Amino acid sequence: MYSSGTLRIQELTAEERAVYATLKPERLPDHVAIIMDGNGRWAGHRSLKRFLGHQQGAKSVQLVTETASRIGLPWLTLYAFSLENNLRRPRAEVNFLMRLLKSYLESNVQRMMDNNIRIRYIGRTHELPPEVQDRMAWAAEATARNTGTTLTLALNYGGRSELVDAFRGLAAEMKLKHLSPDRIGEEDIHRHLYTAHMPDPDLLIRTSGEMRLSNYLLWQVAYTEIFVTERLWPDFRGIHLLEAIADFQRRERRYGGLGEGSGEGAGEADEEAERYKIAAG
Ligand code: FPP
Repeated sequence: MYSSGTLRIQELTAEERAVYATLKPERLPDHVAIIMDGNGRWAGHRSLKRFLGHQQGAKSVQLVTETASRIGLPWLTLYAFSLENNLRRPRAEVNFLMRLLKSYLESNVQRMMDNNIRIRYIGRTHELPPEVQDRMAWAAEATARNTGTTLTLALNYGGRSELVDAFRGLAAEMKLKHLSPDRIGEEDIHRHLYTAHMPDPDLLIRTSGEMRLSNYLLWQVAYTEIFVTERLWPDFRGIHLLEAIADFQRRERRYGGLGEGSGEGAGEADEEAERYKIAAG
């Protein structure tokens, strides 16, 4: 159930409204994370340079975020640039992605204001070029008081390096407070993640068909529903976000427990365990 954001359903396209009408308002996700993949393939299929795929991908970012804001989604977290992208892609492509991010921020802050969107970032952003960091800080500050969707861009982000940073932060805190390691609980690790201020994603969408997590939000996706589509990111629009949410609503989330449809009450499960001599503990 949404905790924030104002519904602007009348601003959806007719097609989006038709999908939205099939959704159960009480079972909307709070947090959707997306692995935006397939920019290069999108360009390749058209015999275009990869850069043009990224440029088109940036348009999808804005359109999908606006649809998210219209349905009042509180949190949208997009994998925009991984640590691995930074280390393993040709310098020319990395430089292009940095320029694209800068110009994306410059040209979209007004639209973010119009849509009540707040922008934030996660990742080792201090390692990005200073002029990109300046624009990022400017856009975050400009949109900080908006109360609708929080768009979080994961930039120079890696799930394992996030855990390394969290453990470093936690170890420093423990040293300072003279705490013993056996006092550490899951909540302490959560407090030191980049995402400490947000709920874990309910739904993770990956475009372009790959069945991988690619080092994205490793701790946070423990119980997240995963939706993979063959659609390439530059072709992904708000309506596809709504379709993914419709699919999510057809799932049964069990968090390691028994689902409603298991046909077994607690008593029946006990009898079953007894019959098969399954010892507890
Ligand atoms: C994957 O495409 C996508 C990325 C490298 C990151 C996503 C970047 C964007 C959507 C554009 C810029 C974003 C913003 C916020 C301005 P790929 O190159 O790996 O595609 P491929 O697997 O088909 O080669």
